[in-house]
This record gives sequence, C-alpha cells and structure tokens, in this order.
Amino acid sequence: MIKTEKLTYQYPDGTKALKDVSVDGSKGNCIALIGENGAGKSTLMAALIGLIKPTEGKVFFKGEPLSYKKKDLYAFRKTIGLVIQESDKQVFYSGIYDDIAFALRNIGMDADEIDKRVKTAMEVTGITGLAERPIHYLSYGQKKRVAMAGVLAMEPGIMLMDEPTLGLDPKSKAGVKSIIHDALGNGIKIILSSHDMDFIYEFCDYTYVLHHGKVLCEGATTQVFKNKEALKTASLEEATMTRLEECLGIKGYRSMAALENAVEKQRKEVRTNEISSSRN
Ligand SMILES: Nc1ncnc2c1ncn2[C@@H]1O[C@H](COP(=O)(O)OP(=O)(O)OP(=O)(O)O)[C@@H](O)[C@H]1O
Ligand SMILES: [Mg+2]
Repeated sequence: MIKTEKLTYQYPDGTKALKDVSVDGSKGNCIALIGENGAGKSTLMAALIGLIKPTEGKVFFKGEPLSYKKKDLYAFRKTIGLVIQESDKQVFYSGIYDDIAFALRNIGMDADEIDKRVKTAMEVTGITGLAERPIHYLSYGQKKRVAMAGVLAMEPGIMLMDEPTLGLDPKSKAGVKSIIHDALGNGIKIILSSHDMDFIYEFCDYTYVLHHGKVLCEGATTQVFKNKEALKTASLEEATMTRLEECLGIKGYRSMAALENAVEKQRKEVRTNEISSSRN
C-alpha cells in the first residue's frame, strides 16, 4: 500500500507546500484529503504518484521507498493512476478512443486487450455515446469523464482523484459517484480530495485534514466530521448529515439519498399496516 513518512515538499520558488506529512493509504478503502485552498492536497497527490520528489521524508509503496528512476516510475504508474484537478486538461488526443488507449499503447499492451479495456472504461464512465465526437467539442464535465476513463483503463490498484466533482452539474456528479462506487466495488482503493463535504461523508471511510501543509487531524470520517474546531480552522463546512445528526438526532445515514430511502421505506410500511388493520 501507499504511504508517506514525514514528507516535506518545497517548490523551487521556496513555497513549502507540505511539512512532515504522514498519510497511510491502508487506513481506509476510500480516503479523503480535505483542507482549505492552498492546504497542500494537490501537492500531496503529485508526491504520492511520484510526479514530484519530496524535499524531505519519503513515499513508500508496498513497504519500499519509491524509486524515482524513469523505469521504476513507469512500472509504478501501472498500479496507481491520478485524475488531476484540472482533469479536462489531462485529455490530449483528438479522439476519445486514442486518448484512453494512450497509456495502454505506451506499455505495449496487446491491441485486443486495449480494445476491451477502452470500451469497458468508456461504458463505466458513460462516454460510449460520445466516441465519435472530437475531443475539442466536449464539455468540461465530459472531458473529465474521458480523463477518468483513461485512468480506469489501466486497471490501477489505487486511483487518486483530485477534486473529482468540481464544476459538475448534479447529473454529472451522480455519474462520478457511480464511477467511484463501481471502482470501490472492484477493489480499487481511492484517495480523493474535495471541498464537497457531503460527497466525502458519503464515500470516504477515513479522512485527513490538511492545514498550511500539515496534517491537522485524521481519523474515521464520521469522527473527523464531528471535530468542529478542526473544520473551522481548515475553513471547511460541516456536512449536511452531521448537522442533521446534531440538530435532529438523525443518526447512521451517510447521505440524504440514504435517509430519504429509509423514510420512504418507513412510509410504505406504515401504509401497508394501515391497509391491513383497516381490513381486519
Ligand atoms: N508550482 C508551484 N510553485 C510554487 N508554489 C506552488 C506551486 N503549486 C502550488 N504551490 C503552492 O503550494 C501550496 C499548496 O498548493 P496546492 O495546490 O497543493 O493546494 P490545494 O490544497 O490543492 O489547494 P486547492 O484547494 O486550491 O486545490 C499553495 O501555497 C500554492 O500556492
Ligand atoms: Mg488542489
């Protein structure tokens, strides 16, 4: 699994974006990195995938320190993929198919296997219908899906997603949720960053709060989200479900949809009971 130990990163202009950051990918299946703008989330993602080399401290993968030799990084990136924050800019090729196939061709994969993987990734991300469309005609949200498909086609063990729902309309956001849900179901570990607290509360089992490049607090998402002081320090909002729990005592639901389903189920039961008692 991926982890960092006391990772510090200073950009060439002197900005210290990460200070002594230790995160452990084995703490959950879907891990959140949250924090205010400039807290260091994207820098940490770049460090996790070996795009930048720590100034101090280390990244470990499967217990071994990450090697930054080109050949080793090449092998490493078959197992871990990153959907960057500006993922619409991650899409380079003029055709969707070629763009998704790019990394697979790069590693010399057999054409039939590439075809199978690209088609599956397009299906999962809901872009099959766009296959013939030139990339430059695609919208921001559609390009985001193409970028996700490119990462999924590699069938990575770990997927890093930097702000996956940013700038998406509710329907596209639901699409991303379903991609994440499926990926988790297929055993892919996800580490994501987001400012969307409801989205994190729904999906992430473990959360790190970053503040000024340091880990301010960490723990099970349900616990961290109750830490109002930490959330306030990191300029984060509370999630709707934790507010409902506090105001109305409604516990145990990770999303509004889950709560609505439970309410609907209860209503149906009441109606059924009323009908059967009116018959008796
Ligand atoms: N290429 C760079 N050169 C110098 N400083 C940088 C560079 N990229 C980022 N930074 C700085 O590093 C710090 C962390 O930035 P980062 O992008 O990791 O934050 P973030 O938590 O992802 O923020 P956001 O929520 O806005 O995406 C910020 O102070 C930022 O200005
Ligand atoms: Mg960022």
